[in-house]
Amino acid sequence: MRGEATKRPLMVASENGRRGLEAGMALLRQGGSALDAVEAACRVVEEDPDDQSVGVGGLPNVLGEVELDASIMDGATLQAGAVAALQGYGQAITLARRVMEETPHVLVVGRGAERLAAELGIPPQEQRTEASLLRWRERFEERGLDPTGSLRLLARALSRPLPLRDLARQPRIDTLGTVNFLALDQEGNLASAVSTSGLGWKYPGRVGDSPLIGAGNYCDNRYGAAACTGMGELAIRAGSARSLVLYLKCGLSLVDAGREALRDLLALGTTDSQYMNIVALTPAGEHAGFTTVAGKEYLFQEAGMAEPQLAARLQLEA
Ligand code: GLY
Repeated sequence: MRGEATKRPLMVASENGRRGLEAGMALLRQGGSALDAVEAACRVVEEDPDDQSVGVGGLPNVLGEVELDASIMDGATLQAGAVAALQGYGQAITLARRVMEETPHVLVVGRGAERLAAELGIPPQEQRTEASLLRWRERFEERGLDPTGSLRLLARALSRPLPLRDLARQPRIDTLGTVNFLALDQEGNLASAVSTSGLGWKYPGRVGDSPLIGAGNYCDNRYGAAACTGMGELAIRAGSARSLVLYLKCGLSLVDAGREALRDLLALGTTDSQYMNIVALTPAGEHAGFTTVAGKEYLFQEAGMAEPQLAARLQLEA
C-alpha cells in the first residue's frame, strides 16, 4: 500500500493500463475531472489491438464474436452507467458514460446498447482482429478440431446448445483480462472505470462483473473507489467492489478493507485459474492492490511521478 503523503491528482490501474494512465494523468494535470480521466484512459486501452482483453482485438466468445462490457461511476454524484454484451461497436466506456448521462438507466445490454450507440452517432467498428480470431481458433485446434471442422460444429451448435455449453465450460488463466482505472482529481473527486471483452470463449450473452456496479466497479467520494479484474463470476457472487468500499465506510483501514473483500472471495473457493484482483483508492490518496493469487501487480501514478510505477498486490491465500 502507498499512501498518506500522496498528492493529488493521482490514478491507479490494473497492470495493463500503462498507456491509459499516461493519457488520464495528462488530463488530470491540466485540471481535468476524475470522470474524464478514467474515460480517456479506458479509451486508450480499448483502441489498442495488442490488448487482447479489452475493446479492439478482445478475445471472442465461443461463437467467435467479440462482446464488450464496460462501466463508469462518478464518486461525487454516485451516478453510474454501463453496457454489456455490446457487439460491432467500440468505445464501450464512452457509451457507458452516455448511458449514465443521457438515459435514466444504469445498464443497457446487447441489441439495446447497439441501438443506443447508433443513436448517439458512435460509428460501428469491427472489434475482431486476425490475432484475436487466431487465438479463438487455437482453442478448437487444441481439442483436435480443425477450423473447418469447428465451424461445422458451431453451425450444428446453433440448433443444439449442448456443444456450445461444453466448449465454454472451462475458463483458463489466459482467457481472463480487463482494465481498471481509478482517479482522484485536484478537486478531490473520485471516479472509476472498467472495460473488458470478458472471458475468452465465454457462452454468448455471458456478462461478467465489469459492467455490474457493486461487483466489478464502485466509487464513492466519501469512502473510496474499487475495481476488479479476474474471474467475474467471483466478484459478482461476492459483490467485491462495493464490499471493499463498504468495509472502508465501516472504518477499516484500506489494507483491512481489502483483506475482508479477499476473505469474501476466498470463501467462494478461488483457484489458480479462477482468481480475482481488486485495486482500491481512498479520498486521501491511499491506494492498494489485492489478489487471491501470487505474483500480481498494479499500476499507480501520483502527481509528482513522471511515469506510472508497478506495485505488488497484497495476496490472501485460502
Ligand atoms: N472480469 C472480467 C470478466 O469476468 O468478464
